[in-house]
Amino acid sequence: MAEHPATVTGRPDRTGTPPRVRIDADTGTVVLNTPRTCYVLRVDRAAHTVLHVHWGAPLPLDDAALLPVWADHDDSFSGRLDGVEEYPVDGGRRFAAPALEVRFADGSSPLEPRVDHVTEAEPGHLVIALHDRTRPLAWELHYRVPPDGDVLERWTEFLHTGRPGDDPVLLIRYASAHWPLPQRPAGPRLSSVHGAWAAENRLRRTPLPVGETVLGSRRGHTGHDAAPWVALDDGSAGEESGEVWLAALAASGSWRITVQHTAAGRVGVIAGEGHEGTELSLAPGRRHTTAVTAALHTSGGFGEASRAFHTHLRGRVLPHPDELRPVLYNSWEATSFSVTEDNQLALARKAAELGVELFVVDDGWFGARDDDGAGLGDWTPHRQRFPRGLRPLADEVHRLGMGFGLWVEPEMANRDSELFRTRPDWVLHLPDRDATELRRQLVLDLSREEVADWVLDRLRDIVRENAVDFLKWDFNRSFTEAGARGRPDGRYPHVHHARAVHRVLDRLRAEFPHLRIESCAGGGGRIDAGMLARTDQVWPSDNTDAVDRLAVHHGFTQVCPPGVMTAWVTDSPNPLTGRTVPLRFRFHTAMAGVLGIGGDLARWTGTALEEAAEFVALYKDVRPVVQHGRLHRLLAPGEGPLTAVQYVDRAAERCVVLVWRPAAGFAACRTPPPPLRLHGLDPDARYRDEDTGAQWSGATLGAFGLPVPDLGAGDHASALVRLRRV
Ligand code: DGJ
Repeated sequence: MAEHPATVTGRPDRTGTPPRVRIDADTGTVVLNTPRTCYVLRVDRAAHTVLHVHWGAPLPLDDAALLPVWADHDDSFSGRLDGVEEYPVDGGRRFAAPALEVRFADGSSPLEPRVDHVTEAEPGHLVIALHDRTRPLAWELHYRVPPDGDVLERWTEFLHTGRPGDDPVLLIRYASAHWPLPQRPAGPRLSSVHGAWAAENRLRRTPLPVGETVLGSRRGHTGHDAAPWVALDDGSAGEESGEVWLAALAASGSWRITVQHTAAGRVGVIAGEGHEGTELSLAPGRRHTTAVTAALHTSGGFGEASRAFHTHLRGRVLPHPDELRPVLYNSWEATSFSVTEDNQLALARKAAELGVELFVVDDGWFGARDDDGAGLGDWTPHRQRFPRGLRPLADEVHRLGMGFGLWVEPEMANRDSELFRTRPDWVLHLPDRDATELRRQLVLDLSREEVADWVLDRLRDIVRENAVDFLKWDFNRSFTEAGARGRPDGRYPHVHHARAVHRVLDRLRAEFPHLRIESCAGGGGRIDAGMLARTDQVWPSDNTDAVDRLAVHHGFTQVCPPGVMTAWVTDSPNPLTGRTVPLRFRFHTAMAGVLGIGGDLARWTGTALEEAAEFVALYKDVRPVVQHGRLHRLLAPGEGPLTAVQYVDRAAERCVVLVWRPAAGFAACRTPPPPLRLHGLDPDARYRDEDTGAQWSGATLGAFGLPVPDLGAGDHASALVRLRRV
């Protein structure tokens, strides 16, 4: 193995900027530089570990090399370095939550790390290699400092260093990373999202208790009840100011984020795939690479943390960040399972007249799918509903100038399906237990290679035979009866299943480069950077109520950009909540992301259709700013009478402001609301309201604010303002 370098090294690769990675061999100090932050760690060979020093505003290397490490005081009860290590293992004088816990063949667990080498494997990519002193396990800590932006990526690779025939090593906890935070006098406060089906992404900000706060999913998918990211601050950060640290894990199956606050005051985030029971068995010579966690520090508040993360996802994760997502129509709320060639054609014609660009046939087009009790697994067109197959419909949709999209739920089977009748053993089940049906369906075990291959074959057929441009990939239930004995790994296949989904998606995309994919899991049950790396947009919630959606969008955009957030305009009263909301408000809410229409157009009046066509045209005008611009959340839903967001394009040429007032109330209508102070505009430029012709300087819009347009009286008022640099 390469030796520890003897001098300060670092590869300058951006003119005039410090090298992204600098290593001071004398002190073992490593500085990772991003444009506005730095992350400092120290390799302590005497202590056989890697210690965290700083993560925040930039520091010179000379100073970084002298900075002390904040360890606990030394007594016989203290784990002195708890919360301080870059990758704490289970073993030795450590009592806090580990990032790595294993079991060797003899049943023992404790690890004794030794540091092998520290290298910059390629510009911006730091590798720290460690191994156990006596047992056959090595692990590498990977840090990637992308050329732009302040987001760091970390992951870990494990290698069984034994010989063929040796016993495997069981990885029990195998986190991607531990992100220790620097010491701050006040706080800390934790931000995360929580929710449920149809109520996803509720943002919560709470003081972080001492101890371990664990977020995660044991469901086999990312989950509705939490999302794999956390943000921390000292309790004083706001939307546009203050220090924030944000970490997000690219895990699409089960996952665990442990936010630790030690009694000594250390705060850190341990993020990784899996949970109890998802151990991985590592055979001699085999490697396991964890999912990536990406994290950042900013001094610009929660809004800047979100924008930096959006930029990171767009620049390094999304497959087609520069494309504009089309305006889509989806049939689910209009025709439910009762899709037919005729009713879809009728909807497609109306959708085309509105300016819709992509027509998506949702659930019900296949097998004997007359309701949710049958058909999943039988991916051939429903014989009675589509006697000529789907191709004539697809051709007509194309002739109307739209892309053709289809709903699929490839990881599932109904008992009432040819698939289940022929392959009952392919679903997650235990021989002597009832297989729990949820939504009357069972989960296919994609951790089995032949099952994943079969799924890929079916998807290939569906795309090829039906000239499909877009798939909505759904997933409508969590795993049960997955804990089989006798697996080589732990009881649960959750991590393998999620990785198989990734592989299938990767192969499908490679074979059909034109194909675009929407990730959905009963709404927002599988949204994470792992899925975003392989899909083009996501469906954040089955709740299409335009008022409820404001809160969903607020939580969603904490990490994910509006350009991947599908939102439909559906019927009023809303089928789920019964709330009656004017078309204008419904459009304004859906225009905050990737606009879709999901109402039953056959029942819309001529006036509504005309109005809708105007909104679609307006959306197409503002779409580049909404989908690719920078988002500022001006007023959060529920905190006052108004909710407002602002988008600015990267050149500060155009700006779009959306404002909603869900409930009027006397106080909300009596006095005009305060102006909306805008961000990110050029203070020296003038901006013209494209609809009223009014003009303001960027300085005025920032300092005084944009007067809120007259919203009139009554509930569910909303407005959209377009500003363009003069
Ligand atoms: C759940 C999705 O979130 C809905 O949009 C719809 O596709 C249904 N599944 C169809 O079963």
